[in-house]
Amino acid sequence: MPLMTTKPMFDLAYDGGFGVGAFNVNNMEITQGIIEACAAEKSPCILQISKGARKYANMRYLKAIIDASVAQYPDLPIAIHLDHGDTVELVNQCIGDGFTSVMIDGSHHPYEENVKLTKQAVDTAHAAGVVVEAELGMLGGIEEDVVGMDAHEYEKNVQKFLTDPEQSRDFVKRTGIDSLAVAIGTSHGAYKFKHEAKLAFDRIEQIMKTCPGTALVMHGSSSVPQEFIDLVNQYGGKMPNARGVPEDQIHMAVSKYGVCKVNIDTDLRLAMTAKIREVFAKDPAEFDPRKYLGPARDAIIAMVRRKLHMLNSAGKTEKVIAHWKKLGSPLPKFYGK
Ligand code: G3H
Ligand code: 13P
Ligand code: ZN
Repeated sequence: MPLMTTKPMFDLAYDGGFGVGAFNVNNMEITQGIIEACAAEKSPCILQISKGARKYANMRYLKAIIDASVAQYPDLPIAIHLDHGDTVELVNQCIGDGFTSVMIDGSHHPYEENVKLTKQAVDTAHAAGVVVEAELGMLGGIEEDVVGMDAHEYEKNVQKFLTDPEQSRDFVKRTGIDSLAVAIGTSHGAYKFKHEAKLAFDRIEQIMKTCPGTALVMHGSSSVPQEFIDLVNQYGGKMPNARGVPEDQIHMAVSKYGVCKVNIDTDLRLAMTAKIREVFAKDPAEFDPRKYLGPARDAIIAMVRRKLHMLNSAGKTEKVIAHWKKLGSPLPKFYGK
């Protein structure tokens, strides 16, 4: 029953030349698509749930869907993670819901407040056997919205918003987090770069030096493949100038640097939307949801398989399970309660 925290995965990913994909789930088809892809590729995976997903789907339903996935693939290493949690109260709810990992995102607060909030979340989560991710620095996209900044202004001043290596050292030491989400030039959503699409590899290298052993996390890591944008636009959508992180740069971040977790949501939305638009455009009379949600689920499977190869995580399930067993098969206290 390898539902686990991310620790056994990150222990191996840290210097094993691979990264673990963290995919956002919002409904049954998305969850099935991700799990089918990971089972086919024998890859560990992190299913992550945002506050918005909890509200949209109702946690009871999401939990039942995820429990079904765990039961269907008992040999697949799966972690259930809260994406961008903003309060200790939400962290507590997720722990009670059986999550194995949580993110507390205080990156938009002044530094000392971020430390305080993160430390509270760590104390609460660790007491329950749940691991914690926190964030320093500021990404573009939804985060610039939080502080009311325009995308152009963000890109112009991006150096100022990247994670500070010395501050990271202090943050990791004072909070006791298990993984650190870093701002290294990525942003959320489908419009990541106006100019050159480039990650700040020098910054990752510096953070690895100031925080040795800490698993690094890349948010905003969809690649927004042009062929999917073309399909969306061809079949009536309107997404001009969408651009993501080049896949070779993500491959480099996980294979040559200590990036252990790579967050992907936008590419799943794109795959699903492109396929549904195509079905409707080709057959405007179609009204059976299975006839468009089924192909959309297949498109998610194909997209996730592509990602697992990019992350080098295909074929790693047995190693992760062996390591999890070596650690004593730990499970959070509240799982199944
Ligand atoms: O980083 C954000 C994820 O893409 C989740 O988005 O809050 O709309 O569910 P959401
Ligand atoms: P994308 O928008 O690039 O898919 O990023 C998702 C993410 O970071 C979720 O936390
Ligand atoms: Zn994110």
